[in-house]
Amino acid sequence: MAYSFQEFCADCEEALKADASEAGRKEIQKHFDKILAHPEFVDGILGENSEPGRHIIHHNKESDMYVLAHVYKDAGSAAPHDHGPFWVIYGNATGYTDMKEYRRLDDGSKEGYAELEVSSEYRIEAGTSSIYDVGDIHSIDYPANSTFIRVVSGDAESGKNLRFNLENRTVEVQDRGKEKRIVSKVDG
Ligand SMILES: [Fe+2]
Repeated sequence: MAYSFQEFCADCEEALKADASEAGRKEIQKHFDKILAHPEFVDGILGENSEPGRHIIHHNKESDMYVLAHVYKDAGSAAPHDHGPFWVIYGNATGYTDMKEYRRLDDGSKEGYAELEVSSEYRIEAGTSSIYDVGDIHSIDYPANSTFIRVVSGDAESGKNLRFNLENRTVEVQDRGKEKRIVSKVDG
């Protein structure tokens, strides 16, 4: 029997309520395995809203947990960044995501300066997911026709986070709320 998106959200909420630590996130990952086995769920949720971009498809006011769908026709990438005060789980429904995680080498004392080195590099294949803890820095690179979902521990799309420029060794505070990144909100 197919595992529905509603069941996925309910299971994630339950896992988070039972344990908000790393163990809870690992539990949520198990639910990713189930929902990502049915990648058509994304079309089912978005329906006619399925234009490219990022969509908020679930928000629980009590836990503040968000689920987003990222639907992309074209290949794309994002420079190294963190997620402000939130943790995030990325899981690919279609396509894949090439991930790089970074270690920050400087102590953050020089304003606007940041030195990063790659600490790991791997691919999230369709059907699989990966956890990024608060403060983790990563960059993404994905091919055309990739769809991934993210469970986020809060409203990372309206808040501030750090964005790094690897070549120039710079870091800036990104105000995501001002960037109008959300295409649709299916479920407030
Ligand atoms: Fe990210």
